[in-house]
Amino acid sequence: MELSDKFADSDYINNMNKKIIKKPAAKEDFQRKNKKVKVYSRLRGMRDTLFDEYRYWEVINKKATELAAAYGYKRIETPVMEKLELYERSSGKTSDIVTKEMYSFVDKSGDKVALRPEATPGLVRAYIEHGMFNLPQPVKMYWLGPVFRHDKPQAGRFRQFNQYNLEMFGEAGPVGDAQLILIAYNFFKELQIDVQVQINSIGCKDCRKDYLDKLVKYYKDKTRHNKLCLDCKKRLTKNPLRLLDCKEEKCVSLKTDAPQIVDSLCESCRDHFVKVLEYLDETGINYNLDPFLVRGLDYYNRTVFEIWPEGDSEARQSSLGGGGRYDELVEFMGGRPTPACGFGIGIERTILKIKEKNIPLKQDDQIDIFLAQLGEAPRRKLMVLFEEFRKAGLKVAQLFTKDSLKIQLEEANRLGVKFSLILGQKELSDGTILIRDMESGVQEVVDLNKVKGEIEKRLNNQVK
Ligand code: HAM
Repeated sequence: MELSDKFADSDYINNMNKKIIKKPAAKEDFQRKNKKVKVYSRLRGMRDTLFDEYRYWEVINKKATELAAAYGYKRIETPVMEKLELYERSSGKTSDIVTKEMYSFVDKSGDKVALRPEATPGLVRAYIEHGMFNLPQPVKMYWLGPVFRHDKPQAGRFRQFNQYNLEMFGEAGPVGDAQLILIAYNFFKELQIDVQVQINSIGCKDCRKDYLDKLVKYYKDKTRHNKLCLDCKKRLTKNPLRLLDCKEEKCVSLKTDAPQIVDSLCESCRDHFVKVLEYLDETGINYNLDPFLVRGLDYYNRTVFEIWPEGDSEARQSSLGGGGRYDELVEFMGGRPTPACGFGIGIERTILKIKEKNIPLKQDDQIDIFLAQLGEAPRRKLMVLFEEFRKAGLKVAQLFTKDSLKIQLEEANRLGVKFSLILGQKELSDGTILIRDMESGVQEVVDLNKVKGEIEKRLNNQVK
């Protein structure tokens, strides 16, 4: 038998395939029986995103890109790893992220590097490094990607998770803050997640100084000082504002009577904050003034905000998003003085909310047609038809690797297709094909050459 004849002979190919497939399987069995093969699992706090979860990802991605485009934000990506110093300097040497949670190490060149614990420092670096101050301001960017924090894993808290960030550089006015809050709010609202915006102003470095004196005095009071957690005792000397961010129960109750920063705002900071709130009132956003919201990062000034799921008593621990103004960071990181503000939204927490609330996902990926074949020649014909359908934009699926019609139709059922097209040897010789309506089970013979037009007509006649 010539080689070309052998390839035309499906029995020969089938037998060859069996031999090829059998070999590695037998070897694998041998390994499993005779050696203890180590099975690896993922690192703690890190997740695999499996097929089903991607349905949520697609919905979120779509909403994120659609909103960013609507408000004029352009996509940007930065490396997942940067110099450790970048984060120490920008996120803040006393922040939890830098002191406790960073994945940092010395690389093979001896450089101290870190996996990004948040996106903002890298985005600020990119703004400076690429001379974006030469572009028309404000520069509006959005970013979607993974961040890493060596935190204690629990529900909704992971060591690798993803964020959607929007940052606006070069705009000092309160309309910038208000519009960002509106976008973050719309993101959740349009995904049918009810949220409340928590908002506060932490003033500028001038008015904050006055406030910090009052705050330190309040906590230095002996009865209060004795009750503080160990971390907060340190915070009192290193970064007193952080005391208001402590999640320890005793510290949370101690802050109830603490002085409020809004009472210490200078005229210009107060004016800015009032205007932000007026814009929010105008757009009907559901917000709550939280006088103790300070956020856990050092770079913020004036407006700070968080997005909490509505009606969740644990909301403070599991905010869906957060952000604020950081007017001094660009200059602090070596750039020109550039006002800025932005926010970050946790993707995994958003997905958890969608699942928790059973919010139905729109099925954009619904398959309409399944191609089922009986035998080698029909399979070859349907492979061509599949390409033709796919290129015409029809949503079509197949299982050409299986011979059994039963298995193929089970797959068609699982996919919930509207029609299956079945091609056997007889139909192929007659130049016909069967259209099976999967709901009614009714089958009809149609001309194979006209099947594409026929199926398009039927799909168009369906109620959408
Ligand atoms: P952040 O509050 O640290 O802000 O994080 C933003 C969001 O990321 C949180 O509201 C939460 O949804 C999510 N998130 C934080 N930690 C975890 C975790 N361990 N597991 C799962 N999700 C988490 C920032 O990162 C700032 N850079 C935001 C910003 C941008 N500010 C100005 N521009």
